[in-house]
Amino acid sequence: MDMSSFRQDFPTLRSSKGVYLDSACQSLKPDCVIQKILEYYNEYPACGGRSIHSMATKVSVEIDKARDKLATFFGCNNSSEFVFTKGTTEGMNIIARGFGLKKGDTVVTLDIEHNSNHVQWLDMATNVGIKRKYCKTSPNGEFEIEEFKKTIDKNVRLVSMGQTSNITGCSIPVKEIVEIAHDNNIAVAIDGAQAAPHQKVNLKDLDVDFYCASLHKMLGPTGVGFMYGKSERLKNLHPLIMGGGMVSLTTYNLAKISNIPERFEAGLGNYSGIIGSSIALEYLTKIGMENIEKHEHYLQKLIQKEVEDIKRLFIIGPKDPMKRGGVFSFNIEGLRSHDVAMMLDSMDNIMIRSGMHCVHPYFLSKKINGSARASVYLYNNEEDIARFTTAIKKIAQSRMP
Ligand code: ALA
Repeated sequence: MDMSSFRQDFPTLRSSKGVYLDSACQSLKPDCVIQKILEYYNEYPACGGRSIHSMATKVSVEIDKARDKLATFFGCNNSSEFVFTKGTTEGMNIIARGFGLKKGDTVVTLDIEHNSNHVQWLDMATNVGIKRKYCKTSPNGEFEIEEFKKTIDKNVRLVSMGQTSNITGCSIPVKEIVEIAHDNNIAVAIDGAQAAPHQKVNLKDLDVDFYCASLHKMLGPTGVGFMYGKSERLKNLHPLIMGGGMVSLTTYNLAKISNIPERFEAGLGNYSGIIGSSIALEYLTKIGMENIEKHEHYLQKLIQKEVEDIKRLFIIGPKDPMKRGGVFSFNIEGLRSHDVAMMLDSMDNIMIRSGMHCVHPYFLSKKINGSARASVYLYNNEEDIARFTTAIKKIAQSRMP
């Protein structure tokens, strides 16, 4: 599919604001999403799910539509299994705190988790006494099924893993992992932040118990995500945030908790964000997730071809561009990753991310002080890659003795 025409839909690309290669952090937003946000603020900037006047009713209807679209996008027909959050991190925290883990229960994660699926487990190890097992990835950061099998024992109650790494771009075989876990009566929670924007995800087919992702990485407004859970799982999950909107009645002594999904959405919601996200999902559906994945592979191959011969450039992750999703992490010997990022920005307005990308334990264990990371999305093109690789060559050259 020719993706070039889509660039015209993005204001920052139309006005040539530079080469944006930081979509793993947050994606750009197309006109239709921005228009929808404006529509909310211009026409019905009210609160959903409470007041019964016309503006509020419009908000409630739009939120319901957004939830239905979200369910359809992820292959489900029960939209009450989808909770709006402010991002993946919030969802992964609700699962961790509400699942009912007790002292001695074990949670299995990868050794390359983002802090969104790491810090809450450390806290629960300290304060609840849960145990943690790390499934080791290969030296390139790839998942190894035999390593995973070794982590399973009778104390494991939850497998909680990132589907695609934000450093290496490697994806894990979720379906196979779920089958093994379920055979052992273990639930599975997936952090899909770096997978859902880049590949087709069918939650019914994967059969996961929980799944979280961030819609601001999927062309949606900032600060919107979701947590999916099978109905029975959500009904047994203790809500993390309590307050208005998640109860049907309270007395001085008691609170009657609302049904799912409202019980997980206390307080006023990010209505403009949620409504805008539904248009982002429509836009992605129109393009087709398979086409987006193919396009990213194509761009990764272009990068690989150009960087292969650059001396002193080291890739973090697999050398096979087909295994890297939308992410290309690297270092140039003799330079800090932040220096590489600043040089790219000042040389030719090329925007990448640098540092440890919220995956400190992995970098520390490898004794690497972070990486530079270029991440592509549907709107990047050959020219972006040419500008990026030309600049990288110049930077690497400038370090030659
Ligand atoms: N998780 C986001 C990233 O890796 C913020 O850039």
